[in-house]
Amino acid sequence: MTRHQDARRVLRDHEVFTSERGNLLTTLGSDDVASGRMVTVTDPPRHARLRASQINALATGVRDAGGLRMRAAVRALLRPALDGHPWDLAEAAALLPLMALGPVMGLPAADWPELSRLAFSAVAPDDPAYATEDTRTTLTTAHHELFAYFRAALRARHHAPADDLLTRLLPQFGESRRQGIELAVYHCYSLLLGATTTLPHTVSATALVMAENREVIAALRQGPKALAAGIEEALRWSSPAAHVLRHTTRPVEVAGVRIPPGEAVVVWLGSANRDETVFADPYRFRPGRTPNRHLSFGYGPHYCLGAALARTSLTAVFTELTDAIEAMEVCGPVEHLNSHFIAGISRLPVRLTPRRR
Ligand code: HEM
Repeated sequence: MTRHQDARRVLRDHEVFTSERGNLLTTLGSDDVASGRMVTVTDPPRHARLRASQINALATGVRDAGGLRMRAAVRALLRPALDGHPWDLAEAAALLPLMALGPVMGLPAADWPELSRLAFSAVAPDDPAYATEDTRTTLTTAHHELFAYFRAALRARHHAPADDLLTRLLPQFGESRRQGIELAVYHCYSLLLGATTTLPHTVSATALVMAENREVIAALRQGPKALAAGIEEALRWSSPAAHVLRHTTRPVEVAGVRIPPGEAVVVWLGSANRDETVFADPYRFRPGRTPNRHLSFGYGPHYCLGAALARTSLTAVFTELTDAIEAMEVCGPVEHLNSHFIAGISRLPVRLTPRRR
């Protein structure tokens, strides 16, 4: 599905288009083992129960996180680059999700780089920067290591509770301790992957636009309303989650095409976000675009659970970046991530021109 209307048709109807057999192309051909346990690959009504647990645990964290802590972290990240030396913006942006989510979840800062690397191996196992062995082994090893990490962390919280998301996820299921921990492991895994693999790419794709056109920097500096509209355009433009997968449960017709039951259906979000019947001049980054009905966070029952945290983080990043710089230029080769799931940039060397005060 490449059109906005067809994408929405598929994503809102879980009865005909199930997520239970996997929601990413990497799982094609083998049913997802996390089905019924992980929120992304569970259909309603059970999905609502899993989702509510995760939202409750996260909501407290998002309130606590606010934008101020994140803004201070972004300022610290930017500071060394303001002397004008070449700086890999994509490498710095890769740290942002854990700067936002790490303290909320209660993950020690020393573990963030490794967690981020494992998350990328899990979504881009073909990319030379993240492949440890062949695709299948890289993927399995990354899953295994992340699950082992969260299992150990959750067991530790069981014995020594803390004021963090990991602890809040623990006791709410009424299942046995072992089952409760296993469900919480799936929650942690989906939160980590949802955040780490997407957010950095909205930042680097938008930075590339800023490097090409410094008026975009100025436009995002025109107050909270302009910034909010600019962030929605950044989300549409970058569309970091390139696709999501569903399977048909019965025969169905979409846009005049009959699809038999049991077929895989891929929704290409980046394409729907450039549907010219919905977005005028779709291949132009228009900072003030309104309305902006992008599907970057998906649509329907699986609409991104981290959308609020993502928007708070992007607000912090672009507030600080546009406040600190007048312009930026690309000063080396840009490398794109090798993945059909994440549309992203893995290397973006830039030179920043600080703002004169
Ligand atoms: C720019 C940033 C982000 C983008 C583009 C994005 C994109 C998406 C998309 C497209 C989906 C729908 C998947 C489907 O329909 O199968 C989704 C779901 C989800 N996202 Fe995000 N996401 C972002 C940030 C985050 C963050 C920061 C978190 C964690 C705090 C997160 C956690 C999740 C979770 C747990 C789900 C599953 C929700 C469900 O199945 O009910 N995401 N995201």
